[in-house]
Amino acid sequence: MSKSGGCCKSFLHFVFDYETTKTLVVPSLAVGCFFRFTQLLVLLYAFGYVFVVQKAYQQTDSVMSTVTTKVKGFAFTNTSNMDPKFWDVADYVIPSQSVNSFFVLTNMVITPHQTQARCAELPGPSTTCVDDCDCIEGYSDPRGNGIRTGLCENYSTTARTCEVLSWCPLEIDTKLPKHPLLAAAENFTVLIKNSITYPKFNFHARNILPHINSLYLKRCQFNRTTDPDCPIFLLKHMVSEAGEEFEDMAVKGGILGIIIDWSCDLDWWAGQCSPKYSFRRLDNKNPVNNVAPGYNFRFAKYYKTPDGMETRTLIKAYGIRFDILVFGTGGKFGIVPTLVSLGAGLSFLTLVPIFADIFMLTCARKRHLYNRRKVEYLDDDAATEAVSMSTTYGTQ
Ligand SMILES: *[C@@H]1O[C@H](CO)[C@@H](O)[C@H](O)[C@H]1NC(C)=O
Ligand SMILES: *[C@@H]1O[C@H](CO)[C@@H](O)[C@H](O)[C@H]1NC(C)=O
Ligand SMILES: *[C@@H]1O[C@H](CO)[C@@H](O)[C@H](O)[C@H]1NC(C)=O
Repeated sequence: MSKSGGCCKSFLHFVFDYETTKTLVVPSLAVGCFFRFTQLLVLLYAFGYVFVVQKAYQQTDSVMSTVTTKVKGFAFTNTSNMDPKFWDVADYVIPSQSVNSFFVLTNMVITPHQTQARCAELPGPSTTCVDDCDCIEGYSDPRGNGIRTGLCENYSTTARTCEVLSWCPLEIDTKLPKHPLLAAAENFTVLIKNSITYPKFNFHARNILPHINSLYLKRCQFNRTTDPDCPIFLLKHMVSEAGEEFEDMAVKGGILGIIIDWSCDLDWWAGQCSPKYSFRRLDNKNPVNNVAPGYNFRFAKYYKTPDGMETRTLIKAYGIRFDILVFGTGGKFGIVPTLVSLGAGLSFLTLVPIFADIFMLTCARKRHLYNRRKVEYLDDDAATEAVSMSTTYGTQ
């Protein structure tokens, strides 16, 4: 009974007695210096680096953006395999509208006057035949060019292949012009209009900055050193800034990224917000395993001959697709991130005495003295003493 009554009393003491820690002052220059130096490091990191350099006092928002482009330039081609032709933007930008990108045709394989007919397949391991028995009627090979009619025909004087129902004559795309047909595209320019918003901060901007007037816009061209704000870019300049040769890229096509970085400090003391442009080739140009390189697609132009036959011109288009990638983070002072990062910094400061204690107890010259005064070992005798003391205290 009395035992449990004592327990109850000690419990009351435990709950209602105020406890405070006793401070041990260590008059050691080494330990003091270590302590202050560690504190300084923590302060430099938590408040200098995290708070000021990384701007941990700001709340952030990511950019919302829209882009329109306008390509300008003309070309004239006069090659042996094609009629002389004048090209303007409606001919070489395909399609004329697309989201955050534009495609400029630079090279092509043209197959004119195709009609729905029967013709011999292009020679290949699965298409050559000896007689009609090798060709199954109705079979369509996805890698082939049409639906087999079941006949074996002369493709040339030396090769016989299965006949197919298809758009004839078939396209032969192995003879790609080595010199890009529209090499003049390197001198084309593009005007990129980009409007952005940071919705959280109700901040709007566009890449035609307030100080640009229409006179300047008519004659300027982007140049990183002289005209870094001009939104008109020479295609060749962009490709060379990405570390590529325009003519090489134009032969088989490729994809070039136009990267617009709108990262801004939107607090009142941080200057104006302007975009930074960079360029990078996005498709993989691996010189070792260069299977299926570049970028191409097919499209056709349809017309009817005077006798009513549906005819088309098939174009396998090679070119450079420019993808415009807009990114950025806007930051502005916010009370919540400020308090959170202040709290994180302060909690780092509370770790400092732990390191100072370790230093004092293991490395300081008088560490044995400090050990004796700071650390109390509880052996068995001391434990008994402590228990008897607490009982006397309890019964008083
Ligand atoms: C196909 O070629 C063979 C041998 O080259 C020839 O004898 C034959 O007449 C040709 N057939 C047609 C339909 O031209
Ligand atoms: C592009 O323009 C430059 C300078 O006007 C000219 O020297 C060059 O030949 C042009 N490139 C092509 C492919 O026409
Ligand atoms: C940019 O301007 C500088 C100075 O006028 C000039 O030397 C340089 O060739 C220009 N760069 C391009 C890519 O036009």
